[in-house]
Amino acid sequence: MSSPPRYLPFTDGQWHMSMSLKALDPKEWIEIDAHLSEQLAIKDQLLKTRHSEVFASLPGSEPSQQEVLDLLLNHLLEEFPQHYRRHTQSIENITTGQVWHIPDFESTPLDLAGRLVQEDLLLMQSTPKGYCLAAASLCFPLRWRLREKLGRPLTQIHSPVPGYQEKLSHPVDNFFNRLKSNHPAWRLNWSIVDSPELFFPPEMAQKDWYAVINSQNAGEKLFLRIERQTLRRLIISSDILFTVRTYVYPLRVLEDNPIMALNLAEVIRQMPSDVQDYKNLLPIREALLRYLEDIVKSSALNNS
Ligand code: HEM
Repeated sequence: MSSPPRYLPFTDGQWHMSMSLKALDPKEWIEIDAHLSEQLAIKDQLLKTRHSEVFASLPGSEPSQQEVLDLLLNHLLEEFPQHYRRHTQSIENITTGQVWHIPDFESTPLDLAGRLVQEDLLLMQSTPKGYCLAAASLCFPLRWRLREKLGRPLTQIHSPVPGYQEKLSHPVDNFFNRLKSNHPAWRLNWSIVDSPELFFPPEMAQKDWYAVINSQNAGEKLFLRIERQTLRRLIISSDILFTVRTYVYPLRVLEDNPIMALNLAEVIRQMPSDVQDYKNLLPIREALLRYLEDIVKSSALNNS
């Protein structure tokens, strides 16, 4: 039995190309769950073996990185004293047993920040080209590479996303320009993927991955990947911190939630085909829709 998803973004059964931002209670900024040790171990391994793929920063971003680390340390010690303990020069993660010597990260404080939590952390700095990605600890990307986005403005970062330029670019830029430090926000993004791996760079995609998927096995072979994203303005630097917390569930979790299966099927039916293509849904569309319809039908039968 899998635990029920903490977030489901398609509750209204409508396809929207919108920011869908909500106010974030600052106390809820970071989320820690039973996968903390397992996910921090994955981060640790990636940072040891492929550091330049999962951490990058531009010169000049250090003070702002330090501001993120200070903010995060205060937050973790305040909200999760059961998980973190501060020593003079170090921070201890009680759950994982990791102890980090803070001065070791003097030139890359965001690297240390990313090792403490399950979230990926991305720092956006205002430039004449708009907000640009200035530094990131990014262990759990879905089909994108940090080095291709570093230093780029939001519009370029989103250039592969169909409809972003026309529908989202202005609202997102306005939101970034107006965001107040005391009004953080959050939103959800979702994908359906064929692997539960959190680290999912583009080269992980298997050729013909969709060929084995049918309506009978979709619940086991496909996964619902949900990103809980938060945005907050830093008080000292005025930069913006974007956090991404990734949750992955086998698609069969929807078998316990037929309304959500119905909503997801409706969203997929409404979605323009370029978006379906971008989200890799086209090759599995029919199998997926049949699978979701079967969930709805069997729940209707059970209730009749
Ligand atoms: C209000 C803020 C934002 C909105 C509304 C937004 C919206 C979106 C949307 C709709 C997608 C397509 C996702 C999908 O359907 O699967 C996307 C992808 C993406 N977003 Fe954002 N985004 C925001 C902020 C950011 C920020 C701050 C970054 C920082 C790096 C970012 C990085 C990305 C990346 C890397 C992708 C994948 C692009 C690719 O396929 O190459 N987003 N975003």
